[in-house]
Amino acid sequence: MKIIKNMVILATFAMVAPLAAETDDNVDAAPATVTEIASGVCAGCHNADGNSVIPMNPILAGQHAEYITKQLLDFKATESEPAKRNSPVMSSMVAALSQDDMKNLGEYYAKQKANPSQVATDADEKLIAKGKILYHGGNLEDGIPACAGCHGPKGSGIPPHYPAVAGQHAEYTLTQLQLFDKKERTNDKAVMRNVLSRMNGQEMRAVSAYISTLR
Ligand code: HEC
Ligand code: HEC
Repeated sequence: MKIIKNMVILATFAMVAPLAAETDDNVDAAPATVTEIASGVCAGCHNADGNSVIPMNPILAGQHAEYITKQLLDFKATESEPAKRNSPVMSSMVAALSQDDMKNLGEYYAKQKANPSQVATDADEKLIAKGKILYHGGNLEDGIPACAGCHGPKGSGIPPHYPAVAGQHAEYTLTQLQLFDKKERTNDKAVMRNVLSRMNGQEMRAVSAYISTLR
């Protein structure tokens, strides 16, 4: 696992270095276009069109532009402020990006057609059914609000603030819920942390499985 992690970090630097070098050393060089960045830097993990097939890497295709741009800004640490969203991988990815790049990348991925996560054939139907009830109706007893209230009945979200979640890989969604729960992801103005404070592990797994089936 450690070796794989190191390889990813190495690959990360190898991919970012040429971009950084271009902007630092060669004033005449034209800035990289959004397609060049997407296919040269991001494609290795998210695919050129944003349809990641790796369950831990989010699908970006079809996500709202504003939400993507916000996340890229949040991953970036500035001289005066630490990053608002913590991810060693993504922080090094955004280090060389300008605000314009981030805005353009948001628009680029929003325009791509989403290719939803393929649900494993052994997906647990009972778990998905439980997730469906929670997603649409919440849980009155524990005060869990319906996810649909903010992320929409079809999971398409409400721009600019509420991201689309439909068809996202269950592994990625579950990881984010766990990060909100542990307060390790804190760029949500406490909205998601508040939701998660009322949910248990099985409910998180159930709703993540259901979300991956939403189209
Ligand atoms: C080495 C793999 C890797 C590369 C290359 C990479 N990413 Fe990521 N990206 C990830 C991972 C892993 C996450 C999830 C981080 C987390 O756990 O919060 C992520 C998360 C994101 C998110 C947040 C999505 C969401 O739904 O909240 C955006 C946006 C994003 N990446 C865009 C990009 C862009 C744009 C590039 C190229 C400049 C890029 N990524 C390059 C691995 C990568
Ligand atoms: C009151 C509104 C609200 C409710 C209810 C809500 N969410 Fe969210 N959710 C948000 C907001 C806002 C964000 C974006 C935070 C940010 O800007 O990074 C978010 C982000 C997320 C993300 C991260 C998406 C990504 O691509 O990284 C997931 C997953 C998520 N919510 C799942 C859920 C689930 C599951 C439920 C129901 C149990 C739920 N949400 C209920 C408002 C809400």
